[in-house]
Amino acid sequence: MTLQYMPGFGNDFETEALPGALPQGQNSPQRAPYGLYAEQLSGSPFTAPRGTNERSWLYRIRPSVKHSGRFAAHDLPEWKTAPNVGDHALALGQLRWDPVPMPEAPTDFLSGIRTITTAGDVHTQVGMATHVYAANADMSDDYFFNADAELLIVPQVGALRVVTELGAMEVAPKEICVIPRGMVFQVALSDGPARGYICENYGAKFTLPDRGPIGANCLANPRDFKTPVAWYEDKETPCRLIVKWCGTFHATELDHSPLDVVAWHGNYAPYKYDLTTFSPVGAILFDHPDPSIFTVLTAPSGEAGTANIDFVIFPERWMVAEHSFRPPWYHRNIMSEFMGLIYGRYDAKEEGFVPGGMSLHNMMLPHGPDAAGFDKASRADLKPEKLTGTMAFMFETRFPQHLTRFAAELDTLQDNYLTCWTDLKKRFDGTIEGNWD
Ligand SMILES: [Fe+2]
Repeated sequence: MTLQYMPGFGNDFETEALPGALPQGQNSPQRAPYGLYAEQLSGSPFTAPRGTNERSWLYRIRPSVKHSGRFAAHDLPEWKTAPNVGDHALALGQLRWDPVPMPEAPTDFLSGIRTITTAGDVHTQVGMATHVYAANADMSDDYFFNADAELLIVPQVGALRVVTELGAMEVAPKEICVIPRGMVFQVALSDGPARGYICENYGAKFTLPDRGPIGANCLANPRDFKTPVAWYEDKETPCRLIVKWCGTFHATELDHSPLDVVAWHGNYAPYKYDLTTFSPVGAILFDHPDPSIFTVLTAPSGEAGTANIDFVIFPERWMVAEHSFRPPWYHRNIMSEFMGLIYGRYDAKEEGFVPGGMSLHNMMLPHGPDAAGFDKASRADLKPEKLTGTMAFMFETRFPQHLTRFAAELDTLQDNYLTCWTDLKKRFDGTIEGNWD
């Protein structure tokens, strides 16, 4: 399988895996080329405004009604869905975890998903969930779609081969991909065991944030988003389709692969994005902008400027601010912040926040640089300095994030996280300089 991509965010794409498979000039010819079935996949209501109207036309070997027989209940007990409140006894607090361990038993991407937090309510299509995945096996004859949400996948270890109805993507650490709600896909591991993070977005789709006075360029540029070209398999062996629907899981047995779309056109499509192509904008004289300046994708909530989810990264960049405390400032926030680290070291924490780890600073709980980081930044010689070898990210939501029992009882939860602030001294002594001994 050679992987090819089409550039652009939210474009109206067209692609065919066989010459002439895509009807021209109409969507639904009396007989589609190659005897394919025409099918529309609607990602928005028919009547959504043009700017948010999303659908694709799929030309496939069998229509999707043939990819679903009777369903039976399926068990994925560690994948939780909001509302999922109060299933643990852990007290309120700022939380941090070391990475979840890699599995020892054969575990594919789907069965390797563990929910850390849920927020909002899937039944009203608001909110989100954060998950980690850790896998060591391919989904060989299993296929999956999520009727509840789109999935934003952030690999941290190991590349994923994500094969969707509309085409195949290779997604390695430092890249992300987004799989639309309702789209069938399968995940294989390209180079051994894999681990990473997932944001499950119940609400309006991720889109690019407005740039305001920044103008027409920088941050995430549309051309750097890549959508796969059409790819299909004509596989007639036993397969299984697993569906997530309002937090419940169902499976149906098939005698063929559901990844049978030979050609498609439209704007409802999966995509990947290389996080190192993000062009950061920041303070070039003094102070520190809000972290929203690093928003890659935003999922709006309907209330202006109040995201259901912002996906924010903290990439490599130059730090040049004069007479400024350069790391992130101390903070309390009405939004709830889940963070992960893809590689390197995050600039507000000298130690304890490791690649593959995660932290949760929930609604209105204070957080900020650890004592060592505060002391170092307060005394630093403020030359231009390049922050290299680091990529952290945040899933920030307007909704409180409820911890799962899995996360509350995870062995890698750090009992001593709060001690990172223990050594923050009282510097106030009545003098205008303060006490910096
Ligand atoms: Fe914060």
